[in-house]
Amino acid sequence: MTRLTLRAFPLAALTLALAGCGGNQNTLAPKGKPEHAISHLWWWTMTGAWIGFAVVCGLLFLGWLRRNRTELPFGGDDKVGTVLVIGLGVAVPLVVLSLLFIWSDIVVLRSTAAPAHGSTRLTVRVIGHQWWWEVRYDGSKAVTANEIHIPTGVPVQVIGTTNDVIHSFWIPQLNRKIDLIPGRSNRLLLEADSDGTYEGHCSEFCGLQHAHMTATVIAEPPAAFRAWLENMAKPARTPAGADDKRGREVFLAQPCAACHRLRGSAANGDVGPDLTHLGTRRTLAAGTIPNDTEHLAGWIADPQHAKPGNKMPAVQLTGAEFSDLLAYLESLK
Ligand code: CUA
Repeated sequence: MTRLTLRAFPLAALTLALAGCGGNQNTLAPKGKPEHAISHLWWWTMTGAWIGFAVVCGLLFLGWLRRNRTELPFGGDDKVGTVLVIGLGVAVPLVVLSLLFIWSDIVVLRSTAAPAHGSTRLTVRVIGHQWWWEVRYDGSKAVTANEIHIPTGVPVQVIGTTNDVIHSFWIPQLNRKIDLIPGRSNRLLLEADSDGTYEGHCSEFCGLQHAHMTATVIAEPPAAFRAWLENMAKPARTPAGADDKRGREVFLAQPCAACHRLRGSAANGDVGPDLTHLGTRRTLAAGTIPNDTEHLAGWIADPQHAKPGNKMPAVQLTGAEFSDLLAYLESLK
C-alpha cells in the first residue's frame, strides 16, 4: 500500500463518520426483509453511478493524453467518431438509466406498499406526540412509550398516526419511514431477522424537541416477547413497602395524575406517557436520558432541563415526598 493510500484511509473514515454513516441507525446494515431490498437498490444505484463516473473520467483522461492528436485511438474516420459519441454519450446512459429507473420504481412500489391483510401476525399502533411515541398492541391492554418490543422473525404490522403535528416514524435497519399524519393511518411492516435493539428517530421536523424524539425497537425471542406483553398488559403493581405506598399517594395527589396514566389507579391522564410499567423502560423522555435513579430524580426535579419545551412542569414536593415518589416510580416493573 502506498503512503498516499495509508493517509487516505483515516480521512475517508472521518468523512464517513462526519456524514453520519455507520452506527445503529445505518440503512446499509439491514436487519429486516424490506430493508434488505432497499439497501440492495442503494448499492446497485451507487455502483452504476460510480461505473458511469469512472468511464467519464477515463475518457476525459484519454482525451487529455491525446490532446495533440487528431486521429481516433483505434483507427477509423469521423463517421466512427460520431457513432462512438452517440453510442457512449447517448445510447449507453439512456439504457443504463432507464433500467435503473424501472428497477428502482419496482423496488419503491413494493417497499412502500402497506403490508397485505393477513400477512402479519401482530399489530402495533404507534401514535406520535410532541415529543414521544405512544405504543399500543392490538388485542392487549398493554400501553407503553418509546420502546417497541416485537418478536424476532415475526411480521409485525405498524399502524401509525399522530396526536398533534406530523411526525415520521423510522427504524432505518428494519424498513423505510412512514409519516404519522393527523386524521390518517399509515401502515408499515417491521420484521427483524435477529434479536437486537434497533434505534430510530423521528424524521420529520415536529417542533422544539424533534431532535429528542427517538424510538427503539427491541426484537426478542417470541417467548420472551409474550412474557413482556403479558406483564405490560397488567395494571400498575400494588405498592409493597411503606415508601412505595406513600409514593403512590404523592403521585395521585399531585398534578402527575392529571397528565399520566397508571392503569388500575385513579391516575388516567393522557397528556404524557402511560407510566404503568415505567420501571421496565431503558430510557426517559424518548431516549433523551437513561432510566436510572439519578436521571429520574433530575427529570422530576427539573423536566425542562433535559428537554426544554416539553409539557411537563416541575412539581413542588418536600424532600420526603420526592424520595417516596421516586421509589414508587422505580418499582413500577
Ligand atoms: Cu416528531 Cu420530529
